[in-house]
Amino acid sequence: MGKKIILLLTVGVLAAYYVYTPLPDNIEEPWKLTWMIAVSKTVAYLNLFSEFLGANRFVNIAALSKRQEVPPTSDENVTVTDTTFNNIPVRVYVPKRKSVALRRGLFFIHGGGWSSGSFALYPHDFLSRKTAERLDAVVVSASYRKAPKHLFPTQFEDVYNSLKWFLRQDILENYGVDPKRVGVSGSSSGGNLAAAVTQQLTEDPSVKIKLKTQALIYPILQILDMNTPSYRENSHFPTLRKSEVAKGWYDYFTTDRSLENAILLGQLVPAESSHLFKFVNWSSLLPEKFKKGHIYKKPIHGSSDVAKRFPGILDVRAAPLLADDARLRGLPRTYVVTCQYDVLRDDGIMYVTRLQDAGVEVTHNHVDDGYHGAFFLLDLKISHRIINHYIDWLKENL
Ligand SMILES: *[C@@H]1O[C@H](CO)[C@@H](O)[C@H](O)[C@H]1NC(C)=O
Ligand SMILES: *[C@@H]1O[C@H](CO)[C@@H](O)[C@H](O)[C@H]1NC(C)=O
Repeated sequence: MGKKIILLLTVGVLAAYYVYTPLPDNIEEPWKLTWMIAVSKTVAYLNLFSEFLGANRFVNIAALSKRQEVPPTSDENVTVTDTTFNNIPVRVYVPKRKSVALRRGLFFIHGGGWSSGSFALYPHDFLSRKTAERLDAVVVSASYRKAPKHLFPTQFEDVYNSLKWFLRQDILENYGVDPKRVGVSGSSSGGNLAAAVTQQLTEDPSVKIKLKTQALIYPILQILDMNTPSYRENSHFPTLRKSEVAKGWYDYFTTDRSLENAILLGQLVPAESSHLFKFVNWSSLLPEKFKKGHIYKKPIHGSSDVAKRFPGILDVRAAPLLADDARLRGLPRTYVVTCQYDVLRDDGIMYVTRLQDAGVEVTHNHVDDGYHGAFFLLDLKISHRIINHYIDWLKENL
């Protein structure tokens, strides 16, 4: 009997240790989040285990995320259709209610580290549906071919080509969209793609219709400095670790693992590209509040060889924060969400500073108790708080 109790206690302690994740004090619904992290940790372990048994990691992740995919189902308020724009799959949400005036149009780009995710995942479908309904907007949810099977700039080009299709006069007319009220938005690596295509459009004379807004939800915007205060403070935060970001980057650029070290050491910029450092200089671009206690270290140069082999690293289409001021000046009204407990926080804040300095109108929603991924954790109150703020901003500005 005694042995059984000891065994039970041991299992209990081990289970508690496995589930327990230390979280900052101001996190809302900490137990619910802890539980969700434990579940995703288990899925990750199972995944690793099957990889160890020989299955391909990416096939697995795709198979797992498939399980949460939902078909294009219309409801009483919104008609949902899967179609293609320029041969690239998209899911389109059109409000059912009659409208005399032209509608807003919103082009949404999902995240997933450029290597996973889909417009069909339940949280993405939910968001697009709610946005269409509450904004009375036509929402186009974009897709793109995934890394590492397809490397940069495929993702950028897929998104850009389908966005350009949507921005054609006849297509907008077809959907009853007002060409003066079209916006782009995206989260995480989708925020990266959103920022990149928005920049590209301002310099593309072949596109006559311009964007009214861009909304970037905790975007990833640069690879040159992965040692900003937010990286230092949150490198092990369980919803997005620094190591996962590094992996995301090298899967985006190459299947060659030698890039990983250069990324983690921050040795990517050859001497001849030194001028780029000022665009990611957190010492000058972050407000005091986010710098406190951190000492800025002069960046180190990498070899020209790395930059030559992986030119994407210094390409504004992969790292929109590297755009010069002239390119930023033409950008539309912008909304940026950053979260306190997110390695990507300072990417977003530096972009806010740079856009403001370039004269772009920016609304910055910094979420003090937020963390990466919170936007789509629909079981938690924080998700709806951020979504509501985002939709209210679009209502007023798009
Ligand atoms: C449709 O819109 C109404 C009014 O906004 C709302 O109460 C209802 O829940 C919506 N239906 C669905 C399926 O979301
Ligand atoms: C970064 O900004 C700080 C403070 O403005 C400045 O002293 C430093 O020289 C800058 N470094 C680079 C590489 O731009």
